[in-house]
Amino acid sequence: MLIHRQGDAVSVRTPAKVNLFLEVLGKRPDGYHELETLIVAVGLYDSLEFCPQPDGNISLWCDDPALSTGPDNLVCRAAQLLRQRTSTTVGAAIRLWKRIPMAAGLAGGSSDAAATLVGLNRLWRLGLTGQQLTELAAELGSDVAFFLAGPAAWCTGRGERVMPLRLARPLNLVLVCPNEGLSTATVYRGVEVPEKPVSGEAIRNAATTGDIETLGRSLYNRLQAPAKRLCPAVSDALKALAGMKPAGVLMSGSGSTVFALCRSLEEAWQIARGFRPVRQDTDKSRVFVVTSCI
Ligand code: C5P
Repeated sequence: MLIHRQGDAVSVRTPAKVNLFLEVLGKRPDGYHELETLIVAVGLYDSLEFCPQPDGNISLWCDDPALSTGPDNLVCRAAQLLRQRTSTTVGAAIRLWKRIPMAAGLAGGSSDAAATLVGLNRLWRLGLTGQQLTELAAELGSDVAFFLAGPAAWCTGRGERVMPLRLARPLNLVLVCPNEGLSTATVYRGVEVPEKPVSGEAIRNAATTGDIETLGRSLYNRLQAPAKRLCPAVSDALKALAGMKPAGVLMSGSGSTVFALCRSLEEAWQIARGFRPVRQDTDKSRVFVVTSCI
């Protein structure tokens, strides 16, 4: 996350994420699922700008008309939460330039919420610590806390317990984002809790040693099966990318984005250029070449 103050305004550039591993350990009484997941921030960014609003109101403008800018938006919820907990009376005019695809398993909304906590902490000169922001982040959503720590972490609990992890080398990825998004809650409803969870030890070791072939072979996402059932575009994208023989392919988070883990940036560009959707007449997938933030 990149933070910049210019005069009265604070601007923040905040990344997307992909999950290299996601296993479900159980279903909790509160309806959430207990997870183990390896998350990496990637170089695809939303930008936000925060300006003080003396009338005390919080307003949100977004360049993408598809996004609701009402109080339900996670950015507005983050701003309201911060205001309530700190008894702040100043408001904020927030502008959001959206580049991270929505409902895509890339946590764009969570990243924007984390950027809002950080940006307004700075704008309103609240002086909250990282720990205090992390506690607020966990109230907003399972993925929000990751963006306060990043750029790579092993996350547990419902995803909000974040243990930073050091990648040995930057990872080069091709993201394929199908036109059709997926609802996180719907995908989780279709998941079967395994009797014997897949271990994340191999992938953690591969990530910290930089062994790209082992990393590719160890990619795993328990949510991929229910997402494939809900969205054929996920299966199509996985098949098309796997055919191009990268080190590995996987769906990110609850989908619908699918990614190829590549051995080099050159290979990533080659795969992106050569990517052909299975259903060429209907498939309007967006393709991005990205590098992990470390
Ligand atoms: O925490 P967040 O608001 O991002 O979660 C969205 C939905 O995804 C939850 O309401 C829940 O249905 C599901 N979820 C889950 N277990 C998790 C994270 C999310 O069941 N660990």
